Amino acid sequence: MTDSLTIRRPDDWHVHLRDGGMLKDVVNYTARQFGRAIIMPNLTPPVTTVEAGIAYRQRILDAVDPSLDFTPLMTCYLTDSIDADEVARGHGDGVFTACKLYPANATTNSAHGVTDIKNIYPVLEAMQRIGMPLLFHGEVTHKDVDIFDREAVFISDVLEDVVRDFPALKIVFEHITTAEAAAFVAESGPNIAATITPHHLEFNRNAIFQGGIRPHYYCLPIAKREKHRLALRKAATSGSPKFFLGTDTAPHTIEAKQSACGCAGLFNAPHALEAYAKVFDEENALDKLEGFASEFGPRFYGLPLNEGTVTLIRQETAIPETLDVMDTKIVPFHSGSSLPWTFST
Ligand code: NCD
Ligand code: ZN
Repeated sequence: MTDSLTIRRPDDWHVHLRDGGMLKDVVNYTARQFGRAIIMPNLTPPVTTVEAGIAYRQRILDAVDPSLDFTPLMTCYLTDSIDADEVARGHGDGVFTACKLYPANATTNSAHGVTDIKNIYPVLEAMQRIGMPLLFHGEVTHKDVDIFDREAVFISDVLEDVVRDFPALKIVFEHITTAEAAAFVAESGPNIAATITPHHLEFNRNAIFQGGIRPHYYCLPIAKREKHRLALRKAATSGSPKFFLGTDTAPHTIEAKQSACGCAGLFNAPHALEAYAKVFDEENALDKLEGFASEFGPRFYGLPLNEGTVTLIRQETAIPETLDVMDTKIVPFHSGSSLPWTFST
């Protein structure tokens, strides 16, 4: 049995850091474990200009503990009216690593998202030309599509067209939750990849309704049936470079979660790596964790691998019920329970 696992320092390819007091209180959880992170732009207002990207990056760097070596990789939020030249300039200047596409009203702070993919075809054309990745929140939002079907319908209604019309565009299908998405990515060309969260590897939709309504298991895309969770575990631990780590850590205060209309999102940053290690260990695939966490992401993005290592020790970590943020609390993933691994630098 492996009692300690040392891997190249990993990156997190999907993170919500928010802004202001929340940013200050959450950023170091991510910076402690990961060398770099792709930062989601769904602030209010969203990050849609190079200037806003530079300013947000600086606020993140100002909030990072100076003893930690952490690089935020910024993304541009696509709107119906976004300017292709602004996006290309942001990429050329080294500000925007990628663009994030939220279908309008798909999730938290996505009201300014894209209403019809055709509206941004000129931007996708430019991104394909310059090799800038497109990060998709892969769900349709029509109210007549069942919430549990929104990802699968997105593949047939949107993604297949985009892949056909922009065959060389680099696309990350973010936080996949279905067997259909895992199969689509596996069968696509090398320019199509996916991120997988620890929570979608760990629980299925029953968790949201276990003995009552459990707001801390509610996120988007919503967790699906068990067969989908099993397909995701297979994909993540397969050793395929098309699947890599993206936590989708999405902090919301306890009040915003425990409400008659609670926000979507899990806060998993504090022990993200331990959670992935548990899954890979259960799948007898600890030898595949380094590729998933530290190699496949940078290779897809065309970035160098991190220097340095982190170590996971087979030793229980107790997860607190709540964490203090601003003047209130957040309930973290695994609140009040424990994980069988401990992170050490
Ligand atoms: C995210 C958030 O809170 O910003 N929520 C979530 O459930 N994942 C938005 C998102 O990535 O969908
Ligand atoms: Zn997200």
